[in-house]
Amino acid sequence: MTVCEYRAGLEGIPATQSSISFVDGQRGILEYRGIPVEELAQKSNFVETAYLLIWGRLPTQAELESFEHEIRHHRRLKYRIRDMMKCFPEGGHPMDALQACAAALGLFYSRRALDDPAYINAAVIRLLAKIPTMVAAFQLMRKGNDPVQPRDDLGYSANFLYMLNEKEPDPFAAQILDVCLILHAEHTINASTFSAMVTASTLTDPYAVVASAVGTLAGPLHGGANEEVISMLEEIGSVENVRAYVDHCIETKSKIMGFGHRVYKVKDPRAIILQDLAEQLFEKYGMDQFYDVAVALERVVNEKMGHKGIHANVDYYSGLVYRKLGIPTDLFTPVFAVSRIAGWLAHWKEQLNENRIFRPTQIYTGTHAAPYVSINER
Ligand code: CMC
Repeated sequence: MTVCEYRAGLEGIPATQSSISFVDGQRGILEYRGIPVEELAQKSNFVETAYLLIWGRLPTQAELESFEHEIRHHRRLKYRIRDMMKCFPEGGHPMDALQACAAALGLFYSRRALDDPAYINAAVIRLLAKIPTMVAAFQLMRKGNDPVQPRDDLGYSANFLYMLNEKEPDPFAAQILDVCLILHAEHTINASTFSAMVTASTLTDPYAVVASAVGTLAGPLHGGANEEVISMLEEIGSVENVRAYVDHCIETKSKIMGFGHRVYKVKDPRAIILQDLAEQLFEKYGMDQFYDVAVALERVVNEKMGHKGIHANVDYYSGLVYRKLGIPTDLFTPVFAVSRIAGWLAHWKEQLNENRIFRPTQIYTGTHAAPYVSINER
């Protein structure tokens, strides 16, 4: 066995072979199954993109219709899941609620018939269909309201906004959210996807796979950064404070949220599209008070850190888009999960095709043959 050099965070170490997505971090390229994400953002919709990622090719008209139909008809939650959610503390983070609910699905469907294509298909449909309903149900329940039932006549994103806000959304807003979901759907072997793959490699059920990925996505260095971006912009407050804020972060070596990426050394191509979506929303519904601050901050970070390859990432402008869509700040990461479920499922399926349990090695840095000291002598 070849022994590799230790790299913290597995930086640069291939952990799998995959044909799902491709990133060129130097040129700012992201492709899903070979198709540039910009093209999908313009021409596709989230459900079709999910099909592409999971099943490996664009669906025919009939396949797409059947996939959409199935998802629409599996959106409802079992009343026992809703009852379970009623017991969650309303002050708890929605990502924790989502992780618990995703895991709870395994209580109902835990057959683990991973060699049965019908089981795989049903799990894909169920998870794509129910994750948005869970997010919306928790949002309403923590406000003391009953969750609204999903509407079969609405598309994926329109139905999600409907369930969140209890009113049918403007089709323009639903369309913008749909593009956001396309952009967040997949991104090679990031932390949450790796988590999903490690869990999948034990041949556990897909609900456990998704629950572990949700837990990983929740952290502030990963999906949680979009929430932190908004807190940061609020803390900076105005354009005049931007330069001092950046200088302070450089001095104290603290991270500026929404910037930097392990792979991209130029502006994340998704951030370019999200900034454009934000501007489209501002044109239609009015400016966000923090957009000027965000643009000024990006300019100063480019000036001071651009040479180190630190540029805006996907989380930088997504929060401003979600705010304009009326999505509360602590739901930004759950919305990310509503989209990334497609990528996690694609990797779960791919992992099952050629599975070997993940079991890396470590470099032991402790002592050997240490004496056991009895408790009264410590
Ligand atoms: N602000 C200030 N300095 C930074 C930043 C930042 N946002 N990102 C990286 N650096 C500096 C870092 O201090 C280090 O400097 P030095 O070499 O002088 O010690 C250097 O750049 C390398 O940073 P790193 O943390 O070792 O890089 P990484 O590849 O391990 O981490 C990252 C990537 C995304 C965790 C990191 O850039 C970061 O913490 N960014 C802020 C949080 C964030 O926006 N996360 C969202 C990531 S994109 C979407 C997702 O994955 O969910």
